[in-house]
Amino acid sequence: MKNCLLLALSLALTVQISQAQTPAAKPAIPPATPQFRPAYHFSPARMWMNDPNGMVYYKGTYHLFFQHYPDGMEWGPMHWGHATSPDLVHWQEQPIALFPDKLGWIFSGSAVVDENNTSGFGKNGQVPLVAIFTHHNAEEEKKKTNKHQYQSLAYSLDEGKTWTKYEGNPVLNNPGIPDFRDPKVSWHAPSKKWVMTLATKDRITFFSSPNLKEWTKESEFGEKLGAHGGVWECPDLFPLTLEGKTHWVLLVSINPGGPNSGSATQYFIGQFDGKTFTPADTQTKWVDYGKDDYAGVTYNNTGARRIFQGWMSNWEYANQVPTSPWRNAMTVPRELALRQVGADLWLTSQPVKEVSQALQTGSVKLQKLAVLKELDLSSKLPNLGDKFQLKLSTKLLKDFSLILSNSRGDELVIGYDQKANAYYIDRSKSGMVAFSDKFPGRHAGPRRAVTPGADLTLLFDASSVELFADNGLTVLTELYFPHEPLTKLKVKSSAGVLIQELNYARLANVVK
Ligand code: FRU
Repeated sequence: MKNCLLLALSLALTVQISQAQTPAAKPAIPPATPQFRPAYHFSPARMWMNDPNGMVYYKGTYHLFFQHYPDGMEWGPMHWGHATSPDLVHWQEQPIALFPDKLGWIFSGSAVVDENNTSGFGKNGQVPLVAIFTHHNAEEEKKKTNKHQYQSLAYSLDEGKTWTKYEGNPVLNNPGIPDFRDPKVSWHAPSKKWVMTLATKDRITFFSSPNLKEWTKESEFGEKLGAHGGVWECPDLFPLTLEGKTHWVLLVSINPGGPNSGSATQYFIGQFDGKTFTPADTQTKWVDYGKDDYAGVTYNNTGARRIFQGWMSNWEYANQVPTSPWRNAMTVPRELALRQVGADLWLTSQPVKEVSQALQTGSVKLQKLAVLKELDLSSKLPNLGDKFQLKLSTKLLKDFSLILSNSRGDELVIGYDQKANAYYIDRSKSGMVAFSDKFPGRHAGPRRAVTPGADLTLLFDASSVELFADNGLTVLTELYFPHEPLTKLKVKSSAGVLIQELNYARLANVVK
């Protein structure tokens, strides 16, 4: 009898243990790919990341939170991961800030400095940082009530280190809209209230609040404007001044339906009076024409600077990119501005100055390079490889391409197509491309500048390139995964181009 009991007990234990160790419980991690690990683009050390969240500057520190699944390399129950930086270049990953709870997973949102303690969360004069995020309730989703996403709060009284969820959550209930998420909140000084910009399926809904806890609907925007190839997500609304005049910029990410298919971010420029956004024109405009810049929004509390950062991937293949043990990184932080070209007003993005200031380690300057058909620069650019910045300028822009390659035959081609008047990145043969048929291809963005000359800044970081043309009027961000580093560079031009100046700088490895 005793033996029987022991046997039964040990069998039960074995079953329990083997259940706990089933492969399904812990997904396999593919072999590590340090060669693709970015140096100055933020990525968590391990596991899955998507959208940037809660970006805020406070007391000398930039806080970057992010959609994170710490237990897998594919999208799963969302947490807010956390990283901090003194300068937007050196990032330190911090403990996870927000975990899923009984109200749901923690989807995208923003964070504000509640200087006047309007929320009442502040204690003993400590200014609260308040996060406003979407709770996504997977159980409720199954019931198909369309009410599974709602907005909630968390606050920090130790400058962002630890967070407490508000016991009165949610603060904004869902009226029955299946996509009701990604609150971006900022203080609207003229009307002395908080404004929430919320993605609500195929439009943006604006809400206002005196205290972050009670929200009143103000207006809707965009049902019939802009691109509608997919659901609207991750909006942002902020003012920018050009020649003394203030304009309001509304960013709206859309997935799918981007200009080169999949995920991308469009924007509108207009006026906002605290209640209603009125666009100045109806053209569809894109922040970035590359395939890998999504869900980008701007930091709160940065004074006159408007700093944007996006997720450097695309939902078409984000779950398949061949990196390990992490998946996905952020774009480099970018300074936004407005520029008038003829009758059109455009948003420009340029890498924040901190990046080249902090990272350059010696540079090579070449002048007056006449490219007649083909010029091989490989021997002139020492240690050409994976982490560097290239700047080019010409007084007369003509058809040309930069071809980065290796002895394996991988090629990444970046250029200007005069006939189409467009910049492009062609990663069709850039190395590992077969993990998704949506990955390889040539992706172009129209040139907006009308000057005869042009300048280009290119940032490379192991597995990504960001192209800022004409001082940020046309931007393209793309990933690539070469079999070996691309250590050769040729310039080609069938029309013949004179490169006035080419600047090459290695960028030092900075991420811990
Ligand atoms: C955008 C998005 C958001 C959502 C989050 C979920 O990439 O779909 O709309 O809050 O990702 O992870």
